[in-house]
Amino acid sequence: MPETDSNSEHSKIRHVAIIMDGNGRWANERGLERIEGHKKGVDNVELVVKLASEIDLEVLTLFAFSSENWKRPKAEVDALMALLESFLLEKKKLLHEQKIHLRPVGKIEDLPENVRNLLRETCRETQSYPRTLALALNYGSRLEVLEAVKKYAQAVGDGNEHPDEICWKKFSKYLYTSDLPDPDLMIRTSGETRLSNFLLLQSAYAEIYYSPVNWPEFGREAFEDALKSYHQRERRFGKTGAQIQELKVAGK
Ligand code: FPP
Repeated sequence: MPETDSNSEHSKIRHVAIIMDGNGRWANERGLERIEGHKKGVDNVELVVKLASEIDLEVLTLFAFSSENWKRPKAEVDALMALLESFLLEKKKLLHEQKIHLRPVGKIEDLPENVRNLLRETCRETQSYPRTLALALNYGSRLEVLEAVKKYAQAVGDGNEHPDEICWKKFSKYLYTSDLPDPDLMIRTSGETRLSNFLLLQSAYAEIYYSPVNWPEFGREAFEDALKSYHQRERRFGKTGAQIQELKVAGK
């Protein structure tokens, strides 16, 4: 595995977020139903969770169901919810073995009750673990902002927030990702080059990597290619290249 943590803060990798795309195309190319692609996609989640553990990644966020995915045919939505339920039931052991805290990111109130209950239970059971698997479920950045604004306005009304004191650090506490670091690396599989309403604000300074591989086949080699690309980049966060080099020389 490539180095994940050089001397510089600027290339440290704490959080990888993945748009797991291409399940349907993987299935179509094999003359299979789309749901077979999703099943294979769920199997691949276990592999990528293990790869993330190997590099001791603090947070892995997976875009499993968007707030726009409800528009898909009902049969596909129902099948995705059933897969999610079996994933939560079957992968508890993996989470305990790998010491991973599972937490949802999204408007979980709108998910089916069985899924909500399993999410709450698994989240509670794993909350003391050091690493996080964040599952983005019924998630969309625009929905997230609207929900955050509502909560913030409520806090202003209650006298707990003061608009004159607003700053990103304070406002971002109202996002679904409140306690998570921002993604360092955002990967989208299947060759599509869009962010599709995923962690748009949190990815303000993320490095973006588009992999040509469909999600069901996104394995060790493809993951390593993404990490390698990340480590070849210079993250400047608004500074100049010269300033970054100076910081590196100073070991900061
Ligand atoms: C995109 O493929 C994938 C999704 C909409 C959902 C991703 C879901 C899974 C991997 C399964 C559920 C995950 C968990 C953790 C239970 P697509 O259907 O848009 O593919 P296409 O663009 O080729 O049609």
